[in-house]
Amino acid sequence: MVKICCIGAGYVGGPTMAVIALKCPSIEVAVVDISVPRINAWNSDQLPIYEPGLDDVVKQCRGKNLFFSTDVEKHVREADIVFVSVNTPTKTRGLGAGKAADLTYWESAARMIADVSKSDKIVVEKSTVPVKTAEAIEKILTHNSKGIKFQILSNPEFLAEGTAIQDLFNPDRVLIGGRETPEGNKAVQALKDVYAHWVPEDQILTTNLWSAELSKLAANAFLAQRISSVNAMSALCEATGADVTEVSYAVGKDTRIGPKFLNASVGFGGSCFQKDILNLVYICECNSLPEVAEYWRQVIKINDYQKNRFVNHVVSSMFNTVSNKKIAILGFAFKKDTGDTRETPAIDVCKGLLGDKARLSIFDPQVTEDQIQRDLTMNKFDWDHPLHLQPMSPTTVKQVTCVWDAYEATKDAHGICILTEWDEFRTLDFKRIYDNMQKPAFVFDGRNIVNAEQLREIGFIVYSIGKPLDAWLKDMPAVA
Ligand code: NAI
Repeated sequence: MVKICCIGAGYVGGPTMAVIALKCPSIEVAVVDISVPRINAWNSDQLPIYEPGLDDVVKQCRGKNLFFSTDVEKHVREADIVFVSVNTPTKTRGLGAGKAADLTYWESAARMIADVSKSDKIVVEKSTVPVKTAEAIEKILTHNSKGIKFQILSNPEFLAEGTAIQDLFNPDRVLIGGRETPEGNKAVQALKDVYAHWVPEDQILTTNLWSAELSKLAANAFLAQRISSVNAMSALCEATGADVTEVSYAVGKDTRIGPKFLNASVGFGGSCFQKDILNLVYICECNSLPEVAEYWRQVIKINDYQKNRFVNHVVSSMFNTVSNKKIAILGFAFKKDTGDTRETPAIDVCKGLLGDKARLSIFDPQVTEDQIQRDLTMNKFDWDHPLHLQPMSPTTVKQVTCVWDAYEATKDAHGICILTEWDEFRTLDFKRIYDNMQKPAFVFDGRNIVNAEQLREIGFIVYSIGKPLDAWLKDMPAVA
């Protein structure tokens, strides 16, 4: 029986391995992590991450051919294929701080693999890593190998949180990069055989190691660039009276461009886009390509601009001050159908409003109060580190309350900011909400999910990203 071990039981390692176990009953899959609470949660009824369909997949295979364990060394030692899916946050200190990927977790995993292995292994990079990481990993493994042979493969993960299970069941493509040697080809084939249990062969792409590593960074950069492009357009739409939804529909009808991923919003978030682009920028700089680096850096700058613009709209619309005003925040996760808050635009928007002394009442159907308090008090750079490595903040943000209901959040509020596109926000009873708010009552829709005309009829003053401005908002001072 082929044995797979995955180091890192996070948003990628957990779902990916659960699907491999489901689709390959003949393979034994162990997911290991140094975080005891995380592994305990994977072994309980309350999984550590929220992902539609995940519970069902885990329930079908856990205890049969899918195991979650903190005994990292044992499972690595026994495995034929070791996936490494540890976090690769942005470096916070030293050379490349603020841009380069922090490979501390990766390096320690690689050294541990070399230490405990007693048989040949295929080591698969699942984490997103800078180009040429495989070379460094190869060196660590071969210099410590005691004669054991390791083949390194790059197999970046393209799943999107919120649709991870569907993405894993029907991937657009699976990408496997390996060394172009007989041993390298054999290893690529072994991993291909795993995916071939459910992925059509023509969707399994094989490339050299560096192309696979770079493709993942490039794919995320292109995706984020689309969002920044449409967000940049949204600012121009507001200034000119055009409607960004109409513009992106017309643009997306061009088959060369396509309709997906063209929704204007308060900005992109998630653990990957920003860190992967920063990483790309750093690699470009290291390869003496400053123009290319600057080009990609703009994608992040526009994202920051969009979040600032949103906060400025809120404050300027409300008579240039939100001091001591209650603002309801609907949605804190970086997108719907996930509880993940890493790099969520809600953090920057909330911090911006708190900076102007607002009182916030936050509701998100999947994010806990603890997480929100931690995100709002944590130093920006630490968000991407695993929970167990983060210090719990001794102080809580006094101006923030978290509630479990949108009606409670909006009661007596002066304004509402919609920051995540949860489906349930589309069907709220806005008349009831309006009746319980201070007047004038404002809605700032950061995801363009409400029907602005209907809300205006109720009496709200509405700001929707990239849409023609309300007469009220037009008269307000220009926002930067
Ligand atoms: P995560 O932070 O949810 O999970 C990483 C896990 O690795 C943590 O539970 C941590 O405790 C564990 N870990 C760290 N060092 C370890 C060690 N030495 N031994 C055992 N366990 C260790 O991260 P996530 O989101 O799963 O991301 C993992 C990688 O996949 C990152 O490189 C990310 O860029 C990439 N990725 C993430 C996607 C996403 O949507 N979250 C999508 C595609 C790729």
